[in-house]
Amino acid sequence: MLDITIHNAFLISKKYLETTNPKKFEHSLRVAQIGQIFATKWGVSKKDAIITGLLHDIGKSLNKREMLELCAKNKINMFDFELFENITALHGKAGALLFEQEFNKNDLERFNAISTAISSHVAGSENMSDLGKIIFIADNVEPDKRNDIFKNIEAGKFKDLNECIREIIELKVKKSNKSERELNPMLLCTLEAIDEEER
Ligand SMILES: [Fe+2]
Ligand SMILES: [Fe+2]
Repeated sequence: MLDITIHNAFLISKKYLETTNPKKFEHSLRVAQIGQIFATKWGVSKKDAIITGLLHDIGKSLNKREMLELCAKNKINMFDFELFENITALHGKAGALLFEQEFNKNDLERFNAISTAISSHVAGSENMSDLGKIIFIADNVEPDKRNDIFKNIEAGKFKDLNECIREIIELKVKKSNKSERELNPMLLCTLEAIDEEER
């Protein structure tokens, strides 16, 4: 079992993704880089943002059947959307389980915070930490996603993390309406939760 360090996170990201999914490996490096920028901007541990960015997509090294089996074996709560519409949406939950297999719990608080952020990066969750929010945002605004949100963040157009998440989810809703592809309903729960946070 490994200590939670940037070096080890890089090795594990490489181990899972470099050959199975090289595009995701490169994407993970970009998410770590952008996560680091947001961590500095929004007062979160830079180190944890880099580590979580590097590891957030290790679940993508698995195929759909492996994701399902891993989650089922660990009695992870799976939603209808994940089971019947888009099994790949389980890669966050599966990735968190892989993280838990690889790293030790010497620092339990960080272990749990990183695991939760990996698990919820796909569509958010009801009680997102700032680390979870930063990774969700970085994942959705890295240059390959081809939207203006990163530019707008840099230009100071969003007052906080929640405003930025709202913009990302609204964009996803618009895209889903256009393409008639079903939206992950967890995104709407996340939207409701951040609205609730502000009430
Ligand atoms: Fe992902
Ligand atoms: Fe990602």
